[in-house]
Amino acid sequence: MEVVIQPTAEAATMVAVRLLAGLIRQKPDAVLGLATGATPLRLYWELAALKLDWRRIKTFNLDEYVGVGPEHPQSYHSFMWKNLFNRVNIAKPNVHIPDGLAKDIPGFCKKYEKQIRTAGGIDLQLLGIGTDGHIGFNEPSSSLASRTRINMLTRQTRRDNARFFGSEERVPHHAITMGIGTILESRHCVLLAFGKRKARAVAEAIEGPVTAMHPASALQLHPKVTVFLDEPAAAELKLKHYYRRVYDYKPDWQKERPMRLLHSSILVVL
Ligand code: GLP
Repeated sequence: MEVVIQPTAEAATMVAVRLLAGLIRQKPDAVLGLATGATPLRLYWELAALKLDWRRIKTFNLDEYVGVGPEHPQSYHSFMWKNLFNRVNIAKPNVHIPDGLAKDIPGFCKKYEKQIRTAGGIDLQLLGIGTDGHIGFNEPSSSLASRTRINMLTRQTRRDNARFFGSEERVPHHAITMGIGTILESRHCVLLAFGKRKARAVAEAIEGPVTAMHPASALQLHPKVTVFLDEPAAAELKLKHYYRRVYDYKPDWQKERPMRLLHSSILVVL
């Protein structure tokens, strides 16, 4: 696992943008696994501002609330179209987001898994992390071998996500989510976490035991994971200084260097 610690969320985002942009340029038909939440917002805006060619890119989103239609302002459909897809030249049939209104949820989940396989698997899976350690909507106690399915949200997650819905009562109780097993099949997992609020969850994911009680810890089983953190999110890592040295002493050819301020105006490659 590579842990990249940057002074700010903006700086960490720009290193991640460079990684994603590099993949899209090198593999114009790449399959991307995408996440929602506040964390990847800037990444999407900056990536869109690069005006890359997305015509052959395929995307699969991690999750969607059950009972929430695509037009709902808090749906992950709305989030993705507003913050990324409407800003790039992606082909609509190449976009896949779980259907929160699916009548036959198990049937839908099976189909979603099949679509991922048919696309050739996910090249890069973007992830955020919940304060309870969830990835996608795989809450604590999710099987580390789980596949795309319906899952119930914990009180903590509903409380955390109340900020988007206006109140906790309005947050749905269920979601469709890719499973941990599904996520671990991606060729590269990229986790972003910013802010002090995530420090505990991040430390447990990277340095704690691998346990279903902390779903993000399953990433320790994956051979290629990159974690982008700002200082506050890295605060509780025991080996913080070691990760920093690993990154600083990397040979140049291995390094993803940050890009600066793209979505507003000018592109500067550092
Ligand atoms: C939600 C999403 C996750 C996301 C998490 C963190 O629960 N299902 O995929 O990683 O929230 O969100 P935020 O980035 O807003 O902290």
